[in-house]
Amino acid sequence: MRPYTGKQPILAIESSCDETAAAILLPPGLILSSLIASQAGEHARFGGVVPEVASRNHLLAIDPLVRRALAEAGITPRDLGAIAATSGPGLAPALLVGVSYAKGFALALGIPYLALNHLEGHLLSPFLGRESIPHHIALLVSGGHTQITEVRGPGNYTVLGRTLDDAAGEAFDKVAKLLGLGYPGGVEIDRLAESGDPAKYAFPKAMMERGERETLDFSFSGLKTSVRYFLERNPELSKSPQGMADLCASVRHAIVEVLIQKTARSCEAAGLNDIAISGGVAANRALRSGLTELCQGKGWRLHLPSPELSTDNAAMMAFAAIHHLTAGESSTLVREIEPRWRVGPETPPCPPSAEFRR
Ligand code: KG4
Ligand code: ZN
Repeated sequence: MRPYTGKQPILAIESSCDETAAAILLPPGLILSSLIASQAGEHARFGGVVPEVASRNHLLAIDPLVRRALAEAGITPRDLGAIAATSGPGLAPALLVGVSYAKGFALALGIPYLALNHLEGHLLSPFLGRESIPHHIALLVSGGHTQITEVRGPGNYTVLGRTLDDAAGEAFDKVAKLLGLGYPGGVEIDRLAESGDPAKYAFPKAMMERGERETLDFSFSGLKTSVRYFLERNPELSKSPQGMADLCASVRHAIVEVLIQKTARSCEAAGLNDIAISGGVAANRALRSGLTELCQGKGWRLHLPSPELSTDNAAMMAFAAIHHLTAGESSTLVREIEPRWRVGPETPPCPPSAEFRR
């Protein structure tokens, strides 16, 4: 096997959920191509991602996608220095497709294969194309994950807090379903909330009550129950446009306030001046404006990924791969997928089923 020189382009593949993605990156951070084949439409009618359907669609999409990524980058497979793939966390049948494809391709070319952690890709995504990564607090908020991590540099992570049940995006999506909005509903709640009053209805800000203030963990499953009971008591509200707007604004406020306050507390406690946010929910307008305001007030810097790097993509995975490959790391071809892989050795245990439920 030819070892990675640190100079050739690398191919990264992402298939942990319902997006098949392939990207080619030239070190240290030039994206030569980045393509995504989304299957969201295939899953929308089920109201969530069906693992076997995702797996089947990855299988159909992956080879044409990689060929196109190579063509757009203007290179041939022989120019590649290494191939990396998301190995976890994620849906096992979906991960298997990307990982098997990457291993087979790397073996055929005689170049290194590298197993990647999906969360690390999100964590580093705000810094793609930048010269350095500051010591910072990262808020990762997506449909599958919600965690606060202290990032000292690539590969050096301590998870400070995480969700004990639903992820923030999952909470948005489940409430959206109760309100009869489409899947994924986070975007729709965010849009409707813009013309609503966030103080109109008080929904629980979980893990923010007295005695729970100190924890940096999150819990969002109680919110959807509370919204369900609220809707049963006030069925007329969701029929009026203003009622819906106020409801969405109040729900968004309950979720976003907890995220902002716990992130602020983590940054203060660690004595840091940099906050980064990543994952699909990082697109939320109230979260962005709340964190911007916080950072302006405190004199902290806020690092945001570009919109195309916020949702699942392979460019962020390739960027994470570069750091490991240039440090001389690679993975053996017998390494299994890791559907419940976490970042950081200090990560506390998480109850079963919460990790990759969507
Ligand atoms: O990172 P992502 O694309 O996929 C993973 O879960 O890995 O995140 C998707 C999630 C969905 O739950 C979606 O509803 C949520 O991000 N989302 C939003 C917004 N845009 C996407 N949630 C709230 N406000 C938004 N603007
Ligand atoms: Zn993701």
